[in-house]
Order: sequence, then structure tokens, then C-alpha cells
Amino acid sequence: MADFTPRTIIEPFRIHSVEPLRLTSEAQRRAALVDAGYNLFNLRAADVLVDLLTDSGTGAMSRDQWAAIQRGDESYAGSPSWFIFRDAVQELFPFRHVIPTHQGRAAERILFSAIGGPGKVVPNNTHFDTTRANVEATGAEAVDLVIPEGREPQSDHPFKGNMDVAALDELLAERAGDVPVVMMTITNNSGGGQPVSMANLLAVREVCDRYGVPLFLDACRFAENAWFIREREAGMGDRDVRDIVREIAAVADGMTMSAKKDPMGNIGGWLALDDDALAEQCRNLLILTEGFPTYGGLAGRDLEALAQGLHEVIDHDYLRYRIRSTAYLGDALQRVGIPVVTPIGGHAVYLDARALLTHLDPLQYPGQALAVALYEVGGVRGCEIGTVMFGRGPDGSEQPAAMDLVRLAIPRRTYTQSHMDYVIEVCDEVARRAPDLPGYRITDQPAALRHFTASFEPVP
Ligand code: F0G
Repeated sequence: MADFTPRTIIEPFRIHSVEPLRLTSEAQRRAALVDAGYNLFNLRAADVLVDLLTDSGTGAMSRDQWAAIQRGDESYAGSPSWFIFRDAVQELFPFRHVIPTHQGRAAERILFSAIGGPGKVVPNNTHFDTTRANVEATGAEAVDLVIPEGREPQSDHPFKGNMDVAALDELLAERAGDVPVVMMTITNNSGGGQPVSMANLLAVREVCDRYGVPLFLDACRFAENAWFIREREAGMGDRDVRDIVREIAAVADGMTMSAKKDPMGNIGGWLALDDDALAEQCRNLLILTEGFPTYGGLAGRDLEALAQGLHEVIDHDYLRYRIRSTAYLGDALQRVGIPVVTPIGGHAVYLDARALLTHLDPLQYPGQALAVALYEVGGVRGCEIGTVMFGRGPDGSEQPAAMDLVRLAIPRRTYTQSHMDYVIEVCDEVARRAPDLPGYRITDQPAALRHFTASFEPVP
């Protein structure tokens, strides 16, 4: 008889330690919103019921990661924990130099301080906000060249994170001398958590080679991207994710990394690369602000937890559950008629606020309006990814972003299916109230990365 093949894809773990959640009333949440200037980043996390603000550093660590933390060796230089971390990184990403940082943006800052500068231009499928900010902070220009399908919320391309190779070729034909690096963000977070195909990575590599420009990965969600390659790309279905990841790494000259995502850490990151001279320059910058090269911005125990996390994240049972549980939320929202970015991405479901709140102009921030309503109605915290995040140019001018989305990012191994059923119910109720939701106006904002600290008020 054939083996029983269950339809239910269960969490391939059980719970070992629990954290309480506090239920609040709508009135309490309305008061919290006023105190927070309608910016969900300003809320106290204890006032949030299901926190889908980010999948970054918010996951549950495993028993084996906590055990590894006990093994952490805090020697300033040459700690055994450093070698365990370095080997775990190089097993998947065999770059010659691994430079540990406290998180992804520190790796970005170091890299772009070394290679950016006025007159330079950095293409990416889509820059994440910190990546863009770190490129622009050096005076360089950040250009997004994702394929046209990647800008359409409902197009069903299997690899919507792909780079527009013809557009990249055109840019390099004109300005290769100004391009210090081409970046590929896997998965494409700002574009909906969408994967990049192996074929596209190879095509980008070929263009980079023709113009002699290095290719770096922003590889935060590399394992999720590799799983999508396995699931969706011809000839990949039998491959081990570990091998797919190595193949991805082989295409690139280096990477920036936030270890708060797929490496299952609560903190951490790294910069890895092959170029000896650039690595030396980057290590010198590291010492200035992060720390000695064998710990960077991290404690020995963090390095241990990340090494263990890197072993766990490429497990097929984990990845099948991870990608399926994200799709579970996305599929259910579609069934109740809420417009979402499709196909469903790896780490998050992206609600199309512009399509849901058709009565609001993009400059009234429909994403912000939807995110505030999800919190008010059900204590669910998501994150606006739209005109608040991307609408202001370096010169201060204001324009609608390509899309106005609300991201419900799912922390790894943290919430159960009934938490997600609750989120689905909250979204359904908010969709019912959609025609009455107010737009927002910004009352106070900083010069850059305004979504973290700006204050808002509803526009009646
Ligand atoms: N690149 C991508 C694609 C990211 O998603 C992030 C962080 C970073 C770089 C920066 O890494 O936070 O460790 O400094 N993304 C988080 C998010 C914050 O919510 O998507 P970091």
C-alpha cells in the first residue's frame, strides 16, 4: 500500500516555552493609537495581540539554538564561536571573507561606504528601505529594475522578484563605469516577498560579466527563495535546498545579510565577499563602528545561535511548512475578497490597500489607513509598505509609490494556525469597514526613513 499522504501540513515542531498575549478592547487600542501618533512603530508591543510588523528578529529560536547560546565563547579575538559561525556561513555561501555585523544594515553601510559615493549608481531588483537609504547616504543613486510584472500586485508570474535583464543591460551599456555593484534581493521584500529564479540570477551574472561589474546578493530570505526555486523552476524539484543555495552563492561575488530573517536569529548579520582588497577596506570600517573582525557587532553566543539557525532553516520539512503557512493566510484572505499581492510570497502576505481603499488618494496613505484599522479592530500590527515608506524623494518631493501595500509578515515558528484564523477574521471585518476608513496626513517627519518615526493624523 502507498504511504498515507496527509493534506494537512503541520508545524514540524512543538512548543517548549510560551509567552502570554494580552487581550485589549477597541477603546484601549484607539487610545494607544492616539498616543503613538498613529504610527504603529510607536506602539508598545505589549498592546499588540498578533504582531506581524516584521519577520525580522521576531522568530522563535529552537531548543538547539538555546543550547548553542550556552556554548557561546565571549573571547574578544578568535573565539571558537566565531569559527563555528564562519564555517556555517561558508558551508552555504563559500565566499573567502565573512565579516560579522550586528544586523543587515550595518553590512550595507560598510559596503556602500567603501564603494558608493556621488556619481555612482546601484541597480537592484528592488532596494529594501535600509539598502536604499545606505546607498543614498553616500550620495549614490539607487535604481530599482524589477521586471514589470513585479510592480503589478496581481500578476501571476512565478518569479516576480526577477531583475529586468534588458533594463540592466541598458543601464550598464550607458554607465557601467559608475556602477560599483549590482544587487539582487532574494526574496524581493519590498516587491511582495517574491522570489528570483536561478535562470534570472544566471542571466544577471552574464550581463555583469560582460561589463565587468560585481554582483552581490541581499540574501536575507535565501532559504525561502531556494524553496521557491525548488518548487517552481523546471528541473529543480528533486534538488536539495542546500545545493540550490550553494548554486545561488556561486553566481555572486558577495552578499549582505540580515541574520534576523532566515538564519533564525534575534540579532545579527554579515557581509561576505571574495575581493581581498575590498574585504580589507570593509574590515577597517567594521573595526571603527562594529567591533573586532571575529565578532563584529555580535556576542559569541549570538554567533552560535546563528550557526545553528543556518542548519535548521534549510530543512525541507521546515521550508514546506513555512511557505505553506504563509500561503494559508494569503489564500484565506483572497477567499473573503481581500486584494493581496499574488502569488503569495515567502515571509509575508501583502494586502493591496490601494485596491481596497479606492476612496483614498495615494497621498492620503491608504496603506497607513489600512494598517491603523487592522490594529484598531483586532490588535493586529502590520506594516505599511507604500507611499509613507517610499513616497518622498531625496529632495523632499512627495510622489505616490508604485504600490500601497500593508505587509503582514509572519515571524518564524512563532504563531499557530488559530492565530492566523483570528487574523483572517480581523481582516474580513476591516474590509467590511473599508469605505468608511479615513486617510492620513503626516504632522511630523524626519529627513530619511520617515516611516519609523513620523506622526500622523486622520483626515476627516
Ligand atoms: N535587506 C532586506 C531585503 C531586508 O528585508 C532587511 C530588513 C534588510 C536588508 C536590513 O536588515 O533589519 O537586519 O538591518 N528587513 C526588515 C523587515 C526590517 O521588516 O523587512 P536589518
